[in-house]
Amino acid sequence: MSSLVSPLAPKINPLRCLYQRRGDSHRNKDQRVGAGAVATIAVMLTGCAGPQSAMDPAGRGAERIADLFWWMAGGAVVVWAGVVVLAIYAIRARHDFPQERRAKLLIIGGGALIPTIVLGGLLIYGLALLPSLLAPAPPGSLRIAVTGEQWWWRVRYVPPEGQPVDLANEIRLPVGEPVEFELDSPDVIHAFWIPALGGKMDMIPGRRTRLVLEPTRTGVFRGVCAEYCGTSHALMAFPVVVMEKAEFARWLEQQRRPAAEPFEALAVTGKAHFFSNGCSACHTITGTEARGRVGPDLTHVGSRLSLGAGIMANDPENFLRWLQQTNHVKPGVTMPHFGMLPSTELRALAAYLESLQ
Ligand code: CUA
Repeated sequence: MSSLVSPLAPKINPLRCLYQRRGDSHRNKDQRVGAGAVATIAVMLTGCAGPQSAMDPAGRGAERIADLFWWMAGGAVVVWAGVVVLAIYAIRARHDFPQERRAKLLIIGGGALIPTIVLGGLLIYGLALLPSLLAPAPPGSLRIAVTGEQWWWRVRYVPPEGQPVDLANEIRLPVGEPVEFELDSPDVIHAFWIPALGGKMDMIPGRRTRLVLEPTRTGVFRGVCAEYCGTSHALMAFPVVVMEKAEFARWLEQQRRPAAEPFEALAVTGKAHFFSNGCSACHTITGTEARGRVGPDLTHVGSRLSLGAGIMANDPENFLRWLQQTNHVKPGVTMPHFGMLPSTELRALAAYLESLQ
């Protein structure tokens, strides 16, 4: 390293001069930069919690992935700190005596040995996690088939016993039990991701991919599509509700039942409008003549937490908004809007859909 510096060069470090010239007038600016960095870190840390955070794990897989993240971040900090220390050393070191040995030590130690040990350790740790993340669910586990549609989720529960149950745009899971997801898509590639519960998995046309998730605590989380799949990719989400086992069993039993007959006058009229406007050609409502398979199953749509695949709260006003301006709420959606219908008819339709508990 010493050979790079001419012995005739003045013993002044140009970089040190640069920083000295900035002087005290920059102290205020440095303080502002420091405060900004603290504020940025604080904002980033608040993003670590919440229903859609991989840093706030609520599942076995997510816990392992979060551990891996922290080890990776720790390794990155070690490498970064090493580089900063070396940079400071390079700026401050005096170059007026032979340093061949020290330079060799730095290049071999800092340039080869430390990165190899740190990155090699992280690689081994990361690879060792893979078998547990990719292990299949034990035989007899609940299976859930999820199909990525444009831009919503077709969901079929296949319990070890009893008939399958169809629903859409919502997933409920029993706490503490591994569940196997079977994922596919009829047309474009999507990716199924519940960050709080585990890793993501692609949904590929013509292929069935699998993902095992095991929730470790109850709560309401958020799943998303993690692969750009078209105009409304960002409007393709779903609530995930993790429940106690007994509560989950009751919920699944309720979802298996055919739709209840509406009894409020408005909802009864809405049911008639549902069939006279041809909604049944695309949607299924078990227990009625509606057996369409193009759009989401609506048998218990009123009981779901969201509308439009995780983008709106489930209430009559949002049902109305959806029916009136489907294409504004979700650009590019296949379902036509029904804004041409009289508002009394639309209100009745919304009342009927909301009654499907
Ligand atoms: Cu589906 Cu992005």
